[in-house]
Amino acid sequence: MNDIKYNETLTNIMSRRSVRMYLNKDVSDEDILTILSAANQAPSAHNNQSWRFVIVKGRKKEELVNLISKRAGDFPRPSSALLRMASRSIASAPVTIAVINTGELIRHGTELFEVDKDIAYDFFRTMEIQSSAAAVENMLIAATSLGLSTVWLGILFLIKDEVLQLLDEKGEFMAVVPVGYSARQSSGPAKRPLDMIVKKVE
Ligand SMILES: Cc1cc2nc3c(=O)[nH]c(=O)nc-3n(C[C@H](O)[C@H](O)[C@H](O)COP(=O)(O)O)c2cc1C
Repeated sequence: MNDIKYNETLTNIMSRRSVRMYLNKDVSDEDILTILSAANQAPSAHNNQSWRFVIVKGRKKEELVNLISKRAGDFPRPSSALLRMASRSIASAPVTIAVINTGELIRHGTELFEVDKDIAYDFFRTMEIQSSAAAVENMLIAATSLGLSTVWLGILFLIKDEVLQLLDEKGEFMAVVPVGYSARQSSGPAKRPLDMIVKKVE
């Protein structure tokens, strides 16, 4: 069912893997801006582009690592272990990018659509999250194409308010993504075969 004719884009998509430890090697500002341009190129509901990206380096990155390590113990396993792993990933990566939803689509959409307020909120919040998820995925693929590695750290949602406060950001936490050169080769977990997840109706 899946005989793929690889081109450059498909090769990048297929070779992206989550990497959780990075080499002590800086990532150029140019590469970071390329990754963020790719993110910003993502489709978005109503073309609202209601995302923000925060480049976290240096002292702020250390503060983020300390915050996560300090709070990890307040959670039961496996959350505590995942938080500790996230703090180690961020510590080892030279740079981390935080993605935040501005809420602009939710505000704009609920005013525009004259439907029940709760339904409108639910709809536009989902659309905003889906739009930002497309931006995050573009980031991951663009990083792969530059020989860089990443991991999407959703676990920080557990301490989202503190993360946003540390970054001096309002809005909704979306993702935190360390970016760096992989410290080890990893083929990553296998994906389910397409026959298990695809059906055709005609
Ligand atoms: C929404 C989302 C949240 C994730 N959160 C975490 C996380 O908190 N910690 C982590 O180590 N990996 C996280 N991941 C990465 C997944 O574990 C990873 O994508 C999955 O195991 C498949 O491996 P692959 O990315 O190498 O294909 C997350 C991925 C997504 C899409």
